[in-house]
Amino acid sequence: MLLTAFLFLSISASVFSDSTTNGEKYIFDFTGPDGVEEWQEQSDTVRSVGMSKAVLVMHQNTEYKRAVFFALLNPQTDGSGFAGVRDLRAYDDLTGYTKLQLRCRAQGQFNGFKVVLRHKGLNNDPNFTFEQLFEGPQNEFAVRDLPFSEFKAFFHGREVETNDTLDVSQITSIGIQMYGGVFLPVKQSGPATLEIDWIKAVN
Ligand SMILES: *[C@@H]1O[C@H](CO)[C@@H](O)[C@H](O)[C@H]1NC(C)=O
Ligand SMILES: *[C@@H]1O[C@H](CO)[C@@H](O)[C@H](O)[C@H]1NC(C)=O
Repeated sequence: MLLTAFLFLSISASVFSDSTTNGEKYIFDFTGPDGVEEWQEQSDTVRSVGMSKAVLVMHQNTEYKRAVFFALLNPQTDGSGFAGVRDLRAYDDLTGYTKLQLRCRAQGQFNGFKVVLRHKGLNNDPNFTFEQLFEGPQNEFAVRDLPFSEFKAFFHGREVETNDTLDVSQITSIGIQMYGGVFLPVKQSGPATLEIDWIKAVN
């Protein structure tokens, strides 16, 4: 009986021990092995009028470990501006996963953020970004779901018409931004923070 159970567990473990165990994969586990060394700022200061700032840093004591995104948005008078960070790399093929999940908490007057994805090495202008807005959960940590199907093509903050869709098998940039909101009803400005435990792909 025990031997049977042992064999069953061993077989189950070997069948399911690839990276899609339980249908999820950590992309960044800041509570575990991942740091923020590879994340680079990408804020509106890439343009001459930009005055915003963002940084992603580790926050750690003996009990816990996570990343904190600090943003300061100094928008133009029309609301345009962004403050963000991104990590460029050839990410694992995420075919078969349906969404990104972030476990996070927002503090500050504004909690409007977006995840900005790029694919196929098209990591710079004039190539589109694939973006999805989300509200950082205020006060309590919570998980935010970002379905891949809801990432829309954008160029400089405006949704664009294209038949090009996000290729989750070839993601080459993952970014987090506090957005200004020039084309949105809410225009954000000032400081915002997002504490992040992890980012996963989930099926
Ligand atoms: C961006 O797109 C243009 C054409 O749309 C392409 O020629 C160029 O290589 C791309 N560059 C990067 C780095 O994404
Ligand atoms: C998208 O594809 C359809 C059908 O092929 C085409 O008619 C349309 O012009 C395309 N749209 C864009 C923005 O490329």
